[in-house]
Amino acid sequence: MSFPTTRLRRLRAKPALRALTRETTLAPGNLVAPLFICHGEKVRRPVASMPGHAQLSVDEAVRDAEALARSGVGGVLLFGIPVAKDPEGKEAYDEKGIIPQALRALKRAVPDLLLWADVCLCEYTDHGHCGVLQGESVDNDRTLPLLARASTVYAAAGADLIAPSDMMDGRVGAIRRALDEGGFPDTPIVSYAAKYASAFYGPFREAAESTPKFGDRRAYQMDPANAREALREVALDIEEGADMVMVKPALPYLDVIRMVKERFDVPVVAYSVSGEFAMIQAAAQLGWLDGGLAAWESLISIRRAGADVIVTYFAREIAPVLGSRSS
Ligand code: PBG
Repeated sequence: MSFPTTRLRRLRAKPALRALTRETTLAPGNLVAPLFICHGEKVRRPVASMPGHAQLSVDEAVRDAEALARSGVGGVLLFGIPVAKDPEGKEAYDEKGIIPQALRALKRAVPDLLLWADVCLCEYTDHGHCGVLQGESVDNDRTLPLLARASTVYAAAGADLIAPSDMMDGRVGAIRRALDEGGFPDTPIVSYAAKYASAFYGPFREAAESTPKFGDRRAYQMDPANAREALREVALDIEEGADMVMVKPALPYLDVIRMVKERFDVPVVAYSVSGEFAMIQAAAQLGWLDGGLAAWESLISIRRAGADVIVTYFAREIAPVLGSRSS
């Protein structure tokens, strides 16, 4: 049946019809908000390239987390900024470190909010790479026990989900074994399975102070040109015990999100990274586009591609208004 019998505009004619026939939904519970935690008290140090975001001391993070919990988000993802950095990233797995402190305080203040703990060494190493070095390259196998230790320390401090973002081979298995042996068999792992060596991490590295001091991350993060390799990464992580898998970044990799969703039956997380946020914010500040609408369109597209959950810096702005959006 074709025109004039068929008129696709009929179902677009008014907001209620559009809402009735919308194929994809976006709810606060689909969104996870990253938070950057630093030492001190009453600290709220703005991140220039990420308007509305700041490095927060634990007391300030608690205030933000309370507001996020009220808006119904699916959790907060914590990144830590240590007091001091060293070659082995010691504060990452110190039970008195910044992330365990934050986890304990947040669990006490907002017990129902899911606490996602990012696991990586790059914020904690003085060279800024995601593992310990052997010469100028990251030593995969010597890094694994440190990531495993960080994971059990975070689980003990109250993390609900452990999210390794380092891209070492075998880390999901190492972390699963450590959690099981450490008495945390029920703590799920969300692996950053397909994490690309991306230019879109720029603003994050300012926020987390994690820029590598030499070289780049292309010897461990994925080549942006590859999609089939992402399926191998995901398959291996699931085999090693990942409960959920992540694709990161999101917008430039919607095809990868779709392929992962079609091929595997685990929940799929997409990380819409700092550069994706910064691009929209910058254009909105210049008056070149409507920031709120562009953010919503990006997020609904990521959901349409197949993401169950989206980690996004827009969570704080978007979550509270989602229920009221009907157009
Ligand atoms: C650290 C990590 C990075 C991001 C999340 N975890 C940066 C990197 O790999 O350099 C990026 C997040 C973002 O840009 O929003 N392993």
